[in-house]
Amino acid sequence: MHELAGFILSEPQILEIASRFQKAMTDGLAGKSSSLKMLPSFLTKPTGQEKGTYLAVDFGGTNVRVITVEIQGNGAYRTLRRLSFPLQDRSKGYDLTTRETAGSDLFQFIAGQMNAILEPGQTYPLGFTFSFPSRQTGVNQAVLIKWTKEIQTSGVEGHDVAELLQKALVRKNIIQVIPRAIINDTVGTLLTASYSDRYADIGSICGTGHNTCYLEPGYPMTGKPMIINIESGNFSELPATGYDLQLDRQSQIPGEQRLEKMVGGQYIGELTRIIIQDFINKKLLFTYGRPEIFFTPNEIKCEIMARQLADKSPELTDIAQWLKTTCQIHHSLLEERRTLRTVASIVIIRSIQLIAATYIGMLKHIDPNLEKRHTIAIDGSLYELMPGYANMLSITIKNILKDKSNLITTKLTKNGSGVGAAIAAAIVDDARVD
Ligand code: BGC
Repeated sequence: MHELAGFILSEPQILEIASRFQKAMTDGLAGKSSSLKMLPSFLTKPTGQEKGTYLAVDFGGTNVRVITVEIQGNGAYRTLRRLSFPLQDRSKGYDLTTRETAGSDLFQFIAGQMNAILEPGQTYPLGFTFSFPSRQTGVNQAVLIKWTKEIQTSGVEGHDVAELLQKALVRKNIIQVIPRAIINDTVGTLLTASYSDRYADIGSICGTGHNTCYLEPGYPMTGKPMIINIESGNFSELPATGYDLQLDRQSQIPGEQRLEKMVGGQYIGELTRIIIQDFINKKLLFTYGRPEIFFTPNEIKCEIMARQLADKSPELTDIAQWLKTTCQIHHSLLEERRTLRTVASIVIIRSIQLIAATYIGMLKHIDPNLEKRHTIAIDGSLYELMPGYANMLSITIKNILKDKSNLITTKLTKNGSGVGAAIAAAIVDDARVD
């Protein structure tokens, strides 16, 4: 399958990507031209002693989560109430993520829903996780630079989303919620991990989207430590294959989020579909038919890839079952099933290798001789649920960093984006002099 040769990265290639990434970080920080935006969060790590009850809104995709959290000090916290709601629901006939929807309507919808978990008479300081590239001028201001993850709602790009939410709260007459901080989900993940782990200095999301933040020891504008949202999903100095170029061309924002399109859950199913479609066109697969699913954009989701990778049976019986029920291929050959599984695993392995390369680049930026311990806190469906993903990511880093690798821990930090927003609001509260 020479078509797939470009997907397999050697160790020197991974190191080369790591060093390009490291240079792009330095350039971005210095304000030079770079695909890395290096956005300041106006936050540093928590002490672990912050306390109080907070409301957190987590908006990072088509599902919004709202939680109330009690931050207890000593690195402990407890979720009190939670609520989750979709921004699109075909059965109810609404979709707030399209260009036809106004941003003000989207935020009023969120404010209205969030009302449901508020206790009457209680005041809630709010931490808002907004997981899209946003330029912050303070801890509670964030102007959306550009939507990612295929969201297109009008009137939000170029606007302060904290202000949009604030206006929506006023319009819905919700006066018990007081916005304190707005953060990216990577920052939330790092804040949550570092609330109880002093070595945590990198926070990352490997899910629908992909991005990483880190604690910059000396932010150029202030000379002090600052958590920086790298927006690493936009990294572009990468060895892209023809399949990647095709996916990029057909996406909402061609030319942008190049790394995310090679590694993120939103895209890798589609990438797999494009490869299989090419194989069918070249008569390398399913020569006796034209299964529509492989010719329909966005029909292959990364859950299907997870299912294919989980099939360890000698005859790949679950893949056969899927081909039968979903693709109407009743008599697939074992060879064909093996090809499907190989394509899925090659796409996943490259996702892991590319992400490992970026982590290595940032570790070398923070600690050039790798002398200290570092925890990389990671959340997201790919990392948590894709068979073998977490383990292989850690092995890839180990293989490359060799004897230095025992200083590096990668760990799952679940729900960090919500809890982290509450911690951010608590950090702001502690710094206030009323
Ligand atoms: C966004 C990031 C976000 C990441 C993970 C990307 O599409 O640009 O801001 O952190 O997704 O949710």
